[in-house]
Amino acid sequence: MTIDVVVFPVAGLGSRFLPVTKAVPKEMLPIVDIPLIQLAVEEAHRAGIRDVVLVTSASKRAIEDHFDHSWELEHMLESRGKTELLQHVRTVFPPGMRFSVVRQPQALGLGHAVLCAQPVVGNRPFAVMLPDDLIDAPGAGCLADMVALHRETGAYSLAVEEVPREQTGRYGVVSLRGERITGMVEKPKPEVAPSTLAVVGRYVLPAEVFTALQEVKPGAGGEIQLTDGIAALLGRCEFRPHRFAGVRYDCGSKLGHLMANFAWAMKDPALAAALRPWIQEQLR
Ligand code: UTP
Repeated sequence: MTIDVVVFPVAGLGSRFLPVTKAVPKEMLPIVDIPLIQLAVEEAHRAGIRDVVLVTSASKRAIEDHFDHSWELEHMLESRGKTELLQHVRTVFPPGMRFSVVRQPQALGLGHAVLCAQPVVGNRPFAVMLPDDLIDAPGAGCLADMVALHRETGAYSLAVEEVPREQTGRYGVVSLRGERITGMVEKPKPEVAPSTLAVVGRYVLPAEVFTALQEVKPGAGGEIQLTDGIAALLGRCEFRPHRFAGVRYDCGSKLGHLMANFAWAMKDPALAAALRPWIQEQLR
């Protein structure tokens, strides 16, 4: 079965990026000149997905506005002959992509945000992407590989990465038997973590996770955790770890966001040519 819908839970508070996130959603932070959410939507498009569900909150209007037409702006650019900029504005919508918006009335946790998408997703298997985990992977990208795995084997999957043991308390951590996930725990202390394999922001999930999430009680941090909903299904559905190729930038942290900006700037020949000598100068 193919995956044709992706959920973006983007209703969190973004407290690590205050004060900028007081009025600007974390997902609208730019990587050079493209907001994080747009890079994630482009990755979903490359994975063949055409239905996007944004789970937002009252302070996140800028995200829906970004994926809406701005007729005034387009008309102005057209009448002034700024065709290159016009093209740039229009490519915000990858071709054929359909957007729906649902609200999470209160930030009760990632699992709760995913559950808010159930009326739109329905009975379909679906993907979840956290846009602040920016993954620079070869080929069509991390999610495309996970969607292909589901199409070829029927298995669901979670993107995972090895992390230093002292950092397990920041992630969901999995245990494995062979290439099957057999256990998951949210934010374990290093001394009790079942492994150092951490889940990062890409998931391919069965619709049954909605039913499981309805039963989940608040867990780590008093929030409804997606990890707990998935853990309840591990005995019934096959979940595999997806060790993606490439680099993940944690753009929910200042350092990760700075590094991603630098990496993306270095992909642009003109910016790279100007940045390289400037950085060498700074390092001296
Ligand atoms: P984070 O743990 O990164 O939380 O959430 P956050 O609020 O975005 O940022 P910090 O930690 O306060 O700086 C992981 C993902 O889950 C979403 C967030 O928007 C982010 O994409 N989320 C989290 C929700 O949509 N709703 C919630 O209630 C909690």
